[in-house]
Amino acid sequence: MKCRKCSRQAVINMRQHKLALCEAHYPEWFVLQVQRAIEKYHMFGPHDRVLVAVSGGKDSLTLWDVLLRLGYQAEGLYIDLGIGREDGEPGGYSTLSREKVERFAAQWPGVRFTVVDLWAEYGETLPEIAGRVQRGRGKPCSVCGLIKRHVMNRIAREGHYTVLATGHNLDDEAATLFGNLLHWQTGYIARQAPVLPASEDGFVRKVKPLCRLYERETAAYALVSGIDYIYDECPYAVGATSLHHKELLNRLEEESPGAKLQFYLGFLRAREAGFFCEQSEMVALHPCTNCGQPTSAPGLCAFCRLWKPKQEPADDRP
Ligand code: AMP
Ligand code: FES
Ligand code: ZN
Ligand code: ZN
Repeated sequence: MKCRKCSRQAVINMRQHKLALCEAHYPEWFVLQVQRAIEKYHMFGPHDRVLVAVSGGKDSLTLWDVLLRLGYQAEGLYIDLGIGREDGEPGGYSTLSREKVERFAAQWPGVRFTVVDLWAEYGETLPEIAGRVQRGRGKPCSVCGLIKRHVMNRIAREGHYTVLATGHNLDDEAATLFGNLLHWQTGYIARQAPVLPASEDGFVRKVKPLCRLYERETAAYALVSGIDYIYDECPYAVGATSLHHKELLNRLEEESPGAKLQFYLGFLRAREAGFFCEQSEMVALHPCTNCGQPTSAPGLCAFCRLWKPKQEPADDRP
């Protein structure tokens, strides 16, 4: 297959766009798509200080790379959850992914990059915390999400960043939407968006600049651009419902190219038209008495309650 622009050998064929591009024109196209999404959804501008949450995977490293190429003030945050450290082996999942992020950051001298090591700062790794609190029994993913959201918001606030960017791609967003629709989680559906504005109570602005790009497109960008990322999924992700939903959507996409994109974009249009009303305003938030981050619970936020096992009440999402 030939590149649409120069008739050299194409490295990717995007059936949903009826577009095949070579290794020179593909990254150009990809960067332009990210820039367009940033502008279309008014995510941020050149004066914003963007904190990019990087996991060591292809999506978030690609995002950081693209933002730096576009000239944005993009600095990185890696949260070392200590996954795999309990095995006593040197090459656990968190160590390997941290190395990928550190190696990437070293290629951009002068670009700031923060590491929060859960074990060093809080005295426990994610698997250790998940093993002792109710919420983590079985699968630590829910505790992990809570910790990551808390740490990302804390570092963004402490560092005076104006925006927090994550590497969620179209496949992530479509799978989340699909899962939430299956269970008609109207609150979550109303809050799913490419941009979540900052709240007066202390949540920083959150953006997802890759939300319109397929996972295979970010993988192709990473490959063509020589970005070294961790191929493995988190060991706890095995069997996750979101992966099952991704497979189902992939089957749909296989039969009808573009279905995933239409599903997600149709949702965004309906959202813009006011189809899903925002319910979160009804929940009153106030600062946690320990860390000062916003919470709906009285007293301590869900993150601080992780460290006080005896007082641990039911679920509350910051
Ligand atoms: P996930 O929830 O693992 O699908 O990751 C979604 C996004 O969260 C990634 O694209 C990153 O932007 C961010 N993220 C995930 N894990 C980490 C981590 N350990 N440190 C910093 N950011 C992360
Ligand atoms: Fe959080 Fe896997 S990355 S449980
Ligand atoms: Zn070309
Ligand atoms: Zn707190």
